[in-house]
Amino acid sequence: MLTLHSKVAGLHFEPPLILASGILGQTSSSMFISLKGGFGGIVTKSTGLEPREGHQNPTMLELDTGLINAMGLPNQGVDIFKEELKELFQMVDDVPIIGSIFASDEEQFAQLAASMEESGVHAIELNLSCPHAKGYGAALGNDPEMAGTIVLNVSESVNLPVLAKLPPADNIAEIALAVQGAGADGIVAVNTLKAMAIDVETRKPFLGNKVGGYSGPGIKPVGLRCVYETYSEVDIPIIGCGGINTGRDALEYVLAGASALEIGSAIYYRGKKAPSKISNEMMEIMAQEGIDTLEELIGVAHD
Ligand code: SIN
Repeated sequence: MLTLHSKVAGLHFEPPLILASGILGQTSSSMFISLKGGFGGIVTKSTGLEPREGHQNPTMLELDTGLINAMGLPNQGVDIFKEELKELFQMVDDVPIIGSIFASDEEQFAQLAASMEESGVHAIELNLSCPHAKGYGAALGNDPEMAGTIVLNVSESVNLPVLAKLPPADNIAEIALAVQGAGADGIVAVNTLKAMAIDVETRKPFLGNKVGGYSGPGIKPVGLRCVYETYSEVDIPIIGCGGINTGRDALEYVLAGASALEIGSAIYYRGKKAPSKISNEMMEIMAQEGIDTLEELIGVAHD
């Protein structure tokens, strides 16, 4: 019988569609609503040690082939965010909740991860990939050695699975190998692509921060390439992310090597029920192809 589930880093996802960080992951109620839409797991909005306002408006723009955002990692700081998680855990107890964190060095990452662990999250996702926040995210994750150092410090400070969310770098496989060597339990590939938009009338960059992160359908070929190249090199599971809007997109990622998928922009395009729609489409295609489990398809494009 056809079932849509997957195990990643010891966590069971059913369906293996997870809310990507940054979309509806900031309050207990928005995370709860996302689960009702059909997600099998949640990644929270990235949290830092201290509250942070983020970048100036405008912070988001719709393009023909996706979205560009530069929120700038706004968040309430981990202590207040833990209260949101406490509320969430009163409403749900059967779905993996993954705490996303960002910091500027390995010590802060380790401190933050330990604090997040106290909230009861089931795993930590390291934001090593935000493309537009100076000194954070991709500024660290593009360097294999630094990415490995952060993973090592975090792995030693928590008893939770550690997932490294990587940037869409040319050398993503090298970075993935470094974080695997440092003890990562899984890889999330990929975050948004560093990009910009210019307003012709004002003749200025559109976003307050000038550059932002490009997501949505236009980045799917890049995400797929990253998952494909990473799968060739590492043994730990990969969660695919980037432009997954339909069940067919999701299955492309699985064939490239993803064991589960993170979904963000599809909520913008297809509404709160996007994950249910994507699961149904995946199962429809799998049924047509005579496939019973996702496992049968993981990485098959490499054979
Ligand atoms: C943001 O808050 O600007 C987005 C975070 C990210 O891209 O990781």
